[in-house]
Amino acid sequence: MAKNTPKPQASQGRGFSWCLSFFVLIVAIVAYFTGLLDYGIENYEEFHHERVKNFYGQILVDFHEYHGGYLTFGLWRNYTSNEKITKFEDAAENLYYELATRFNLTKDSKFLDVACGMATQDVYLVKKFGCNITAVDLLEKHVAIGKQHLVKAGIQDKVKLLQASATNLPFANESFSHVMCAEGGPHMHTREQFWRETMRVLQPGGVFAFSESTLQKRTDSWLAQLSYRMASYLWRCSVDNIYDNEEYIRKLQQIGFTDIQLKSCNLDVYPDYQLSSWEDRAQLYKVRGYLTTWGGAFIDLILRAYSEYEVIDYVLVTGKKPPNA
Ligand SMILES: C[S@@+](CC[C@H](N)C(=O)[O-])C[C@H]1O[C@@H](n2cnc3c(N)ncnc32)[C@H](O)[C@@H]1O
Repeated sequence: MAKNTPKPQASQGRGFSWCLSFFVLIVAIVAYFTGLLDYGIENYEEFHHERVKNFYGQILVDFHEYHGGYLTFGLWRNYTSNEKITKFEDAAENLYYELATRFNLTKDSKFLDVACGMATQDVYLVKKFGCNITAVDLLEKHVAIGKQHLVKAGIQDKVKLLQASATNLPFANESFSHVMCAEGGPHMHTREQFWRETMRVLQPGGVFAFSESTLQKRTDSWLAQLSYRMASYLWRCSVDNIYDNEEYIRKLQQIGFTDIQLKSCNLDVYPDYQLSSWEDRAQLYKVRGYLTTWGGAFIDLILRAYSEYEVIDYVLVTGKKPPNA
């Protein structure tokens, strides 16, 4: 009778194959987006640099004059007047003003700007502080556009702009009195190697100023680990840079820096960046199309939520190479 007919073996087998394929697919996607497939890659640093170059290379297409050429989140509160800032370029320049004043940049400083992007910040810093600058960025394309910005501003004699990696700086020991890096750190493989390079190229008593995204308090649950790794992959950051503020300071101290000051300012960065961006979306849509515009909006929303739930932080950090080092 039809009622008692056992299910055909083939259909059971097919169900199992579908489940197995689905499981393998999920594992592969997770492994891919968490970077687990990268283990064992020879010369990982070069591989990672290529990834970072492709990431910023794509952003560059049709995009380099957007946001005035700045690639930062900006600092949306003026800490001198305590006033809120409402325009993107003002927030970007406020960040650079804050960093420069925090480590006393003057016209006589021997100043190295690492991860300078398209040198927009250097145009601002030269005009504001009258300093000479040596600036480096990983991307040849950023350096090429940066040189155009310098010529346009008529300050090509004040800024020496080079392509180089922060992790292997092409400068002699003790060449600089001031080293700055805004938002390059998370991308570097590794940020600690850049800090060792900073220690090497700074003169005794020299100072640094960094700004970047960090974790407020690292959680070790597997779900948190997974989300850190996925965010690192999507943002082309090195997984070796995933640690919280406490560890950040400890690692700087281990390298030998002193007088370390870390100011946490995530709520003056991500929420306003996310809101400010809305008014720019329409303009961005024309340049970047649907997917990138709304994908970017979604990522900004997540960043904002993470900052409000005190997962992610944005820090301004200064410190010193001891005078006797
Ligand atoms: C978020 S952008 C910030 C750029 C710039 N500070 C600004 O505000 O426009 C990060 C920059 O870090 C650079 N970068 C990433 N890894 C680097 C490395 N290993 N050495 C030097 N620059 C690097 C990228 O090319 C990019 O220009």
